[in-house]
Amino acid sequence: MPKTILVTGCAGFIGSNFVKQFKKEFPKIRIVGIDDFSTGRRKALDKTVTFYKGSILDEKLLEKIFKKHKPEYVFHFAALPRVSYSLEQPYQTTLVNIGGVVALLEKSNKHGIKRFIYSASSAAYGGARILPTKESENLPNPKSPYALQKYVGESFCEIFSGLYGLDTVCLRYFNVFGPGQYGDSPYSTVISAWLEVLYFPKKKPAFLEGDGKQSRDFCYVDNVVQANILAMKCKNKFNGEVFNIAHGERTAVAEVKRLIEKYTGKNLFLEKRPARLGDVRHTHADISKARKWFGYNPKIKFKEGLRRTIQWFQAR
Ligand SMILES: NC(=O)c1ccc[n+]([C@@H]2O[C@H](COP(=O)([O-])OP(=O)(O)OC[C@H]3O[C@@H](n4cnc5c(N)ncnc54)[C@H](O)[C@@H]3O)[C@@H](O)[C@H]2O)c1
Repeated sequence: MPKTILVTGCAGFIGSNFVKQFKKEFPKIRIVGIDDFSTGRRKALDKTVTFYKGSILDEKLLEKIFKKHKPEYVFHFAALPRVSYSLEQPYQTTLVNIGGVVALLEKSNKHGIKRFIYSASSAAYGGARILPTKESENLPNPKSPYALQKYVGESFCEIFSGLYGLDTVCLRYFNVFGPGQYGDSPYSTVISAWLEVLYFPKKKPAFLEGDGKQSRDFCYVDNVVQANILAMKCKNKFNGEVFNIAHGERTAVAEVKRLIEKYTGKNLFLEKRPARLGDVRHTHADISKARKWFGYNPKIKFKEGLRRTIQWFQAR
């Protein structure tokens, strides 16, 4: 077991959930974190984290952190996520989503860390040809700056493993949801966007794009956290290997509405809008590779995850 790990993006949705669960499982391991609060929130920060406010693009700060704390594993969550934001800000998002990975890989290599665990995205598939999507059968076909940036990050991981023997692993997440995901940004999943409107009604209506038959492989955040922990514990080297991290089942968006109404006892009024241009009809991952390599098994099923997410909105 390591003495210290570094968590980038520790104030974000997945990063903060990771910290919470990791410290429960490994109370003796020190967690060092970095975040610049560009999308993360101060109140999501865990007080036990040795925290640095700053950017992953700040090489001097990274050097200081690696030198001082000597992390053995790096969990890289920090990014400017979401497809639509990358369309508005292709340059800024490229700097952070590609430059940030390279800066961290460089420091990780220089300081001899044991493994770099990279948060990749299913966006890289750009709409898979074969469902459920297997890593080997569906070559990446990025269709937005964000998708390309996350995919280039994977390639850099592989290159650093090939060139320098730095062990890296890329976890491609599918549609993550759960507590800590706020629904008031244009980049939220339908689950958090609809719950936000139900529990914190503002002037903006909730809406449904298309016929509701489109489906997503919604993955509860604790499963993503478990995948990261299992990837750390795995004895074999990964050398840049890529894995789907999802629930492994898909749920139609109309079914999400039905379940939300059932569990909350509230009526969810949705404004009908045309289908989003270029939107992927279905996402559905084959997760057998992650299961085989490091025993990934999504313990929290969709309905249970939805219930827990609703509880978090109710308690907010
Ligand atoms: N949420 C999903 O469905 C999903 C799906 C696939 C992949 N991912 C990936 O998972 C990771 C975490 O996503 P999330 O949903 O938690 O997003 P998030 O926006 O909640 O978290 C990202 C965190 O990174 C921080 N950050 C951004 N730029 C930074 C910089 N330059 N320096 C330091 N910190 C910076 C933000 O402040 C934020 O706290 C991202 O890499 C994302 O691409 C997420």
